[in-house]
Amino acid sequence: MRAGNNALRLLQGLGDTDCDCDLLDLSAPMLERAGQRVGAATTGTVRTIQGDIREVTLPDASYDVVVAAAVLHHLRDDADWESVFTRLYRALAPGGSLWITDLVSHEVPGVHDLMWTRYGAYLSDLGGAAYRDRVFSYIDREDTPRPVTWQLELMRRVGFTDVDILHKNSCFAAFGGVKHG
Ligand SMILES: C[S@@+](CC[C@H](N)C(=O)[O-])C[C@H]1O[C@@H](n2cnc3c(N)ncnc32)[C@H](O)[C@@H]1O
Repeated sequence: MRAGNNALRLLQGLGDTDCDCDLLDLSAPMLERAGQRVGAATTGTVRTIQGDIREVTLPDASYDVVVAAAVLHHLRDDADWESVFTRLYRALAPGGSLWITDLVSHEVPGVHDLMWTRYGAYLSDLGGAAYRDRVFSYIDREDTPRPVTWQLELMRRVGFTDVDILHKNSCFAAFGGVKHG
């Protein structure tokens, strides 16, 4: 299980071995694994919080960086998305930033079809057509990805002043925004 990858990459990128980290997930095994891996990479305090990002109380104006890795596409309706982005904005300290890496959909139907065809070809190369179909059927059942463009607009609406895209490749993107002081 590759739990906590983005927190680990962030610690490596910062070159700072004394960062406090809060790790949040619904799943206890995911948290346990991420806690071990991140705990080995920092001398700071590592807290695990088992709960639903839609409900957990986070301290106001406290975090320098929030990374949301492959999780927000599980959110369902617009109200969930808006409330979670608002919570994350509130939890950031002034000058703090939110960075999302996730599965995304697309606003323009033709672009969406093209990108999901590419993703399907990648999955087929990886594990064959049956594997591709299994992944697509899981996504249909369990996930509600949203376009990067839609999420960046929502970020601005909840208060982020500067938003930007780091990377996008077919249905996967890395993007985020900064909360000004
Ligand atoms: C693909 S895994 C990514 C795990 C981790 N973020 C990482 O990158 O290593 C998706 C995770 O999202 C968690 N999840 C889904 N919905 C959630 C929610 N509403 N609140 C908190 N965690 C959630 C699941 O428990 C699962 O562990």
